[in-house]
Amino acid sequence: MITDRSVPIVTHIKGAAMQVTLRIMRFDPEKDKKPVMKSYKAEVEPTDRVLDALNYVKWYEDGTLAYRRSCAHGICGSDAVIINGVNRLACKTLIQDVGKTITIEPLAGFKVLKDLIVDFEPFFEQYRSVLPYLINNDPKPIKERLQSPEDREKFDDTTKCILCASCTTSCPIYWANPDYVGPSAIVNAHRFIFDSRDQAAAERLDILNTRSGVWRCRTIFNCTEACPREIEVTRAIEDVKRAILYGES
Ligand code: SF4
Ligand code: F3S
Ligand code: FES
Repeated sequence: MITDRSVPIVTHIKGAAMQVTLRIMRFDPEKDKKPVMKSYKAEVEPTDRVLDALNYVKWYEDGTLAYRRSCAHGICGSDAVIINGVNRLACKTLIQDVGKTITIEPLAGFKVLKDLIVDFEPFFEQYRSVLPYLINNDPKPIKERLQSPEDREKFDDTTKCILCASCTTSCPIYWANPDYVGPSAIVNAHRFIFDSRDQAAAERLDILNTRSGVWRCRTIFNCTEACPREIEVTRAIEDVKRAILYGES
């Protein structure tokens, strides 16, 4: 055991460091008329994540760079951006998977507040519009509301959503019509529509059976490809369409 306190504690052993070029879309609404692409160099390792490279730029190159991040482990959904043209979480994307020149832009279809930070408020408004919580007006049971494994399985996939908006901001229908409630809101409606303990499926289906609801979806599948949680987003949307048409919830 090392007892000499002068020996530094090694917390991170550097492997084969490499230099990458980050091309980052910058925009400061207080100064800039339009967004500009700026390049930065970052020292990283192949197994670092793109979030590490962004941190490097912010900590060592330009402290004014603005981007969201929190958990750094693919759970909070706050760091979805466009990386080399594809919606991804910066904290789940390895440098070795995206090459030495990495282009990073804010999510498409949302207003840019600064650099990579976009305004999520319309997205959360659409999320709230589908009543994304359990509604059951029966008296509370003494222990819990029971559910069979088969019934739980019906909405297992859609419980995985982390509200990162990668799906909604990859949908061309949403780009053309921001009134479309979007795949993320439908996924979160699905999570409760197919929950046997919930009593508001009919209300949610009415909300989604409108001009801005599920019928806007043209089964383009971008949302499914974009989802970092590998949720079968398009399948969930189809489930909801069938429930509206045939009452299959
Ligand atoms: Fe993100 Fe997937 Fe949820 Fe869409 S469905 S918000 S892509 S986690
Ligand atoms: Fe858009 Fe996904 Fe439907 S990309 S059109 S919501 S299948
Ligand atoms: Fe939380 Fe990436 S920082 S998902």
